[in-house]
Amino acid sequence: MERQQWGNRGAFVLAAIGSAAGLGNIWRFPYIVYQNGGGAFLIPYFIAILTAGLPLLILEFSMGQKNQLGAPGAMASVKKKFGKIGWWTVLSAFIIVTYYAVIMGWSIVYLVDSFTGTWIDTGVQEYFYENVLQLSSGPGDLGGFSIPVLLGVILTWILIYFILRKGTESVGKVVWFTVLAPIGLLVVLIVRAVTLPGAMSGLNYFLQPDFSRLLDYHVWIDAYSQVFFTLSLGMGIMFAYASYQPKDSDITNNALITVLANTSISFMSGIAVFGTLGYMSVTQGVPISEVATSGIGLAFEVFPTAIKLLPGGPAVVTTIGVIFFLTLLTLGIDSAFSLVESNITAFVDKFKWDKRKVTLWVIVVLGIVSLLFTTKGGLYWLDIIDHYINNYGLVLGGILEAIVIGWYYYPEKLRSYVNSVSEYRIGKWWNTMIKYIVPIILTIFLIYNFIGDITKPYGDYALRYQWLGGWGMLIALLIVVTLLNKIGNRNIIEVTNTDQALEEN
Ligand code: PFF
Repeated sequence: MERQQWGNRGAFVLAAIGSAAGLGNIWRFPYIVYQNGGGAFLIPYFIAILTAGLPLLILEFSMGQKNQLGAPGAMASVKKKFGKIGWWTVLSAFIIVTYYAVIMGWSIVYLVDSFTGTWIDTGVQEYFYENVLQLSSGPGDLGGFSIPVLLGVILTWILIYFILRKGTESVGKVVWFTVLAPIGLLVVLIVRAVTLPGAMSGLNYFLQPDFSRLLDYHVWIDAYSQVFFTLSLGMGIMFAYASYQPKDSDITNNALITVLANTSISFMSGIAVFGTLGYMSVTQGVPISEVATSGIGLAFEVFPTAIKLLPGGPAVVTTIGVIFFLTLLTLGIDSAFSLVESNITAFVDKFKWDKRKVTLWVIVVLGIVSLLFTTKGGLYWLDIIDHYINNYGLVLGGILEAIVIGWYYYPEKLRSYVNSVSEYRIGKWWNTMIKYIVPIILTIFLIYNFIGDITKPYGDYALRYQWLGGWGMLIALLIVVTLLNKIGNRNIIEVTNTDQALEEN
């Protein structure tokens, strides 16, 4: 069967932007900037984009597009055994989306309860931990399902199924909404935020430059990791999406648009978040440092609390509440389904199964695994698994991709392909980034986290949980990766040794 293609260039670019712009933009970026020198953080941030984010994005786009295959197939085209690296990234995406979908589920619960006023009338913390999560005493105590979360998650999977059902055809339509809607919603949140008293002091905290922070290497590690995560790299997504592009499509221009749009969405989120936090700090008489936070706490505790303080009565609170949770949902859903598509593409490519059936089955299996996170102890597992898969799964995938292309495939070959199809040509600097800079920086990041985790187990969970949800999970992943690569490559005769590959061009 002929490979599906995006109906037009806009659909592809929007899908890539949709994947990149997700929860990380709204709940991680603003806090990272605030913590790492405010406006001064722009320097490491843009350096990280130029030296690692953009080069890797171009690598993933071009490998997917050139080979017309998702990550495992594209990597295996260099050498069969490198297919494992592709599978590793795809399975990292698999793990991530099992809990990313659950966070979407919480957002749906909050959204519905915005209309009924439930979280508005009770204390937000109480609502989140007792009504929604019904949190148990620890990871060893799963305590049955939280029904609201379960329902929200089921709805999320149904939504994702219908979006992915017709592949690029349905995704290409949906992204016009899931990318543009959150931008519009963010504009509303920004206008509301900056017209509140105290908003400017909040923005000051967000952006006031402190250049002395740039001497601290943690700031640089944060910049590189933020850029890496925000661009959805090391997850097989950009390979998969680009593999549905015609072989002669522009690459560098599309990569630049993706990066710029994603960065803009991050800044818009920062203004909305810190404007609102500034107001909260003024009305409650507490310093910004006490309300500024990131992650789940920001989205499901602090921000809703701030919304409750808004002037104008219940109608305003409800409206802004609905807008905020719609923003989370629309921002997140296209990241979630891109993580699923990375898997679907990989299985269809390697096993030649029917795409419709694969879509259904991948989602059913993902749905079953995600049940773990809908239990009352789910939040603990989410926390542990998220830590390990992000810091080891994704980062390792990124390092290995760069090493394979940099040292086995020759970046020059890929660069000449990119330049033969693209409006903006990339210079030799790209080869240097892929060969040296990306692997070195990501390896530093990996080692840094590893030392941190062995000296102080993550989150103070008992060692057996670190093993089960962390190291054990990663080892299990490695075994599955090896198996999948073996089975998937059964019918493939290795054609590309380096010389032949060179001739090919
Ligand atoms: N880029 C998306 C985000 O920032 O939310 C998707 C994503 C990337 C999710 C990396 C999770 C992750 F670890």
